[in-house]
Amino acid sequence: MRKNIVAGNWKMNNDLSASKKLAKQVAKLVKKSKVKGTKVIIAPTFVNLERVVKATKKSKVKVAAQNMHFAESGAFTGEIAPGMLKSIGVKTVILGHSERREYFGEDDALLAKKVDTALQHNMDVIFCFGEVLEDRKSGKQEQVVESQIKNALFHLEAAAFKNIVLAYEPVWAIGTGETASPEQAQDMHAFIRKTLSDKYGANVADEVSILYGGSVKPANAVEIFSKPDVDGGLIGGAALNAEDFVAIVNAF
Ligand code: 13P
Repeated sequence: MRKNIVAGNWKMNNDLSASKKLAKQVAKLVKKSKVKGTKVIIAPTFVNLERVVKATKKSKVKVAAQNMHFAESGAFTGEIAPGMLKSIGVKTVILGHSERREYFGEDDALLAKKVDTALQHNMDVIFCFGEVLEDRKSGKQEQVVESQIKNALFHLEAAAFKNIVLAYEPVWAIGTGETASPEQAQDMHAFIRKTLSDKYGANVADEVSILYGGSVKPANAVEIFSKPDVDGGLIGGAALNAEDFVAIVNAF
C-alpha cells in the first residue's frame, strides 16, 4: 500500500532558533494528533538540518534536505554531498523543486544524476516537477509533466520506485495563493500514475505516493487529499506555522 505523506518544505526560511522551535512544535502536535498512518516530513535549510534531526529524534517526524549534489565529494564549492547528509541522520532529499529548476538552472539531465546518486546511497527521494502557467494555458501540462518524469526517472529499474515519492507542483500555484482545483490535481495525478503504469506496470504505479504541492492550506487540504490519486502534500508557506502544518497532516 502506498503511504500518505505530508512534507513541509521550509525553503530559505528560519534561523537556528526558529528552526528548532518550529520542529519541536510540529513534533509535539504530531504526537497529539490522531492520524496514525501519515508520514510527516520537514525539510529545513542545510545549516539547521542536524539540530532539527536532534530536536525531532524522539518523534515520528522525519527530516529531509531540500537539495543535494550528485557527486560523492570534491571541488564543488558551496555544495552538499549525500554522505554528508547521511552522516547527520538525513536520508530523504527533495530533488527537482521548481525553484531549483528556475533560479539555479537545474535541468532534467542534472536531476537524473542527482536521483541516481541519492538511490545509490539508499536515500529516499521526493522528486518534484510541474508545468508553468503558459504550459497550462496552452493545454501542454501533461506533455510537460510527462517529459520531466521520463527524462529524469525512466532510466531507473522498477525497484527504484520503492524509494521515490513524486510531487506534482504546478509552478503557477506555488506561493501564489492559487491552488489547482481538486479536480485538476486528481486529473494530473491520474495521468502521472498512468504514465508510470505504462512504463513499469500497474503494480509499481499503484505503490508510488504522489503528492500535490502549491498553496495547500488547512482550508483546502481535506478536499485535495480526498482525491483517490492524491497521496498527500508538499507544503511551503503553511509549513512555516506548526498549527497550520499539522492541521494539514490531520486533513487525512
Ligand atoms: P506553497 O505551499 O508556499 O505554495 O509552496 C509549495 C512548495 O513549493 C512546496 O515545495
